[in-house]
Amino acid sequence: MNNNNMYQFCRVNWPKGLKSFKSKTIRLSQDVVTFLKEDGIFLNDAWKKPPLQDNGTKRFHELEQIINQILDDYDNVFIKLNWRAPLDCQNTFQDMCFSDMYDIMMALKYSGIIMEMIEDYDEFVIDQNHPDKCQIVDQPSKGYLLELRKYYKLRPNSEFRCFIKQKKLIAISQKNLYLITEDESVKDKIQNYFNKIVDLIDIDSYVLDVYIDIPPKENIILVDFNPWQEHTRPKLFTYEELENMEECQLRLVNNKEMIIQEDYSGYRESLDLETLIQQQQQEQQLQQQQQQQQQEGQQQQ
Ligand SMILES: Nc1ncnc2c1ncn2[C@@H]1O[C@H](COP(=O)(O)OP(=O)(O)OP(=O)(O)O)[C@@H](O)[C@H]1O
Ligand SMILES: [Mg+2]
Repeated sequence: MNNNNMYQFCRVNWPKGLKSFKSKTIRLSQDVVTFLKEDGIFLNDAWKKPPLQDNGTKRFHELEQIINQILDDYDNVFIKLNWRAPLDCQNTFQDMCFSDMYDIMMALKYSGIIMEMIEDYDEFVIDQNHPDKCQIVDQPSKGYLLELRKYYKLRPNSEFRCFIKQKKLIAISQKNLYLITEDESVKDKIQNYFNKIVDLIDIDSYVLDVYIDIPPKENIILVDFNPWQEHTRPKLFTYEELENMEECQLRLVNNKEMIIQEDYSGYRESLDLETLIQQQQQEQQLQQQQQQQQQEGQQQQ
């Protein structure tokens, strides 16, 4: 896939009419992008406390205002930078549910997935003019785009990955492979949904992630629109198989032997982040204890 085409998978650039969760996209300013790209750990500056500029003013104040406005509306959010979510931080940030600007910044900064995305695409993105200020965008946009989606508690065994080749649905795989799922009826439901949206999408081969809502309605909600290949994992298929398939096939995890745990251990950052957060908490506790001891000492005098 050529770099330029990857932008179509950012939510704000999806084909018109393709509906999904409520979401807002913020085009990040140069200083936020620089912060995300900086090497090194700025824990005391950046973790929880607003990162400060040399003159003592808050860094990212306007980004914080925009994020807080969105949080007022959505309560909790799931986040993505361009076409990737920092899923390797999900042990640290419970269920990827965010309600605080600094947690969002930390997840983005310490995610190996996000770092890899920035490294792979930076040369290409750098050609764009990053705006001076962060801004909400609702028109097709480029640059670094932070998507905040309203957070929904999803049932993991109701997520499916659907492979579309030459505008035909040719395969459906269960998305989360750590669960046994038995519902074979999903194939027809997904095919019906796909028939309704296929004309909205102007490319031949791509991958859709869908969620089937709770009975009795069982509405289908689009979760993600992904490139065919690139970083999109083929789940219970291989791309080699998919290239040769014609008839729509459904694959589910239906016995224990098929269970596969998603492995993000290749991305070292999330582990580092956990250790850092623990250290930070210990430091804070120590500081609090010292302050308390000082206060008690003063009272005794
Ligand atoms: N709005 C949401 N609320 C809660 N969870 C969500 C939301 N959107 C997505 N998720 C969860 O996060 C997972 C990954 O989301 P998404 O596909 O958008 O990110 P990605 O980086 O493309 O990941 P993947 O590599 O799995 O495709 C989804 O399968 C879903 O379980
Ligand atoms: Mg995806």
